Amino acid sequence: MKAVVYKGPYEVAVEDVEDPKIQDPTDVIVRITSTAICGSDLHMYEGRTDAEPGISFGHENMGIVEEVGSGVTTVSKGDRVVMPFNVACGFCDNCRAGKSAFCLTVNDPGMAGGAYGYVGMGPYAGGQAEMLRVPFADYNCVQLPKGNEHEKDFAMLADIFPTGYHATELAGVKPGETVAVYGAGPVGQMAAYSALLKGASRVFVVDNKSDRLDIAKNMGAEPINFDDGDPAQQIHDKVQAYGVDRGIDAVGYQATVSSGEEQPAIVLNQLVDTVRHTGGLGIVGLYLPSDPGAPNEHAAKGELLFRIGRFFEKGQFMGTGQADAKQYAHKLRDLIIAGRAEPNFVVSQELPLADAPDAYRRFDNRESGYTKVLLQPGR
Ligand SMILES: NC(=O)c1ccc[n+]([C@@H]2O[C@H](COP(=O)([O-])OP(=O)(O)OC[C@H]3O[C@@H](n4cnc5c(N)ncnc54)[C@H](O)[C@@H]3O)[C@@H](O)[C@H]2O)c1
Ligand SMILES: [Zn+2]
Ligand SMILES: [Zn+2]
Repeated sequence: MKAVVYKGPYEVAVEDVEDPKIQDPTDVIVRITSTAICGSDLHMYEGRTDAEPGISFGHENMGIVEEVGSGVTTVSKGDRVVMPFNVACGFCDNCRAGKSAFCLTVNDPGMAGGAYGYVGMGPYAGGQAEMLRVPFADYNCVQLPKGNEHEKDFAMLADIFPTGYHATELAGVKPGETVAVYGAGPVGQMAAYSALLKGASRVFVVDNKSDRLDIAKNMGAEPINFDDGDPAQQIHDKVQAYGVDRGIDAVGYQATVSSGEEQPAIVLNQLVDTVRHTGGLGIVGLYLPSDPGAPNEHAAKGELLFRIGRFFEKGQFMGTGQADAKQYAHKLRDLIIAGRAEPNFVVSQELPLADAPDAYRRFDNRESGYTKVLLQPGR
């Protein structure tokens, strides 16, 4: 079958690889109908991780079940399913507590959590391919209505919709509250959308990419361009209070300033400034324990210059980490089915798998109009 394979920094290719096979009785094989490119894939794409050439990418996958292992009970051939990106067992302590991003059985000893097609997240091939092996299929497949309705909406359940929602949970967003989201990429858009779904009174979205800020504005959020000055100050001026109730980081360690220079902790520090005393911060933008491509030696060792003193003084709290996507996927699916959520507005392109190399390059350049790319291998 064809799959998107990492060749080295800034290069992926669509190549023939071996078809996936049932390895354990609890596996299924899914024929992929839609698979998205994520900002998280770009860390590997840019050579900022230990990903070795040859790894296949793709953790945002949905499709039709093609083959079913003998130990699978709730998934059948022909079912339409989406796989939230956490590969998880469903029975360890963390899975039982809903913390599916920190499954204790799917990775090497001492590590927690697995994902499809991601360095350090276990031996699972990616789904930017014609087919995908899904382990512990009863737990890892989320059932969808048959047919092809809502394909773009359901595809967002594999990562960014639950991840955006998770960010609002980490920050503790409640109805009527004010929220600032840093980053108007797909994850930031879904965090802002989730905050609005939860009944936030005002949601600010910070970025300097005008096409992305326009998307935020169209959903009912208030765009803040950091090229126009300190975003924390801009938001304080608008709320006329001690700050917003909740803040979300959907940028991560590759945060830049207006000049384009990277400043790895700038968003964390701006969030502390933006949020009121005792408010909550949800950090879903990615931070790495070490970063071979970092702009300075502190950042390379993962030592970010986070001003913990100010954070402490303000009595704030912070939640971090990979999102427990599985915890929310079923309920968010039901909102889509009921017509109450339509996350597809964030999808900017639907392309055949063969276009992946070009799509990676354009999305990595944050080219105007390239917000969220869906690859459709069946096309
Ligand atoms: N925790 C999780 O489970 C999880 C899941 C998916 C993605 N992520 C991470 O979320 C982050 C965002 O990913 P994405 O897919 O939305 O794509 P993305 O990387 O394109 O989005 C980042 C956005 O942040 C903006 N930005 C850069 N510096 C900024 C600053 N100083 N202030 C405000 N905005 C700034 C960029 O212009 C861009 O639009 C990545 O780090 C990704 O790895 C985490
Ligand atoms: Zn993703
Ligand atoms: Zn588990």
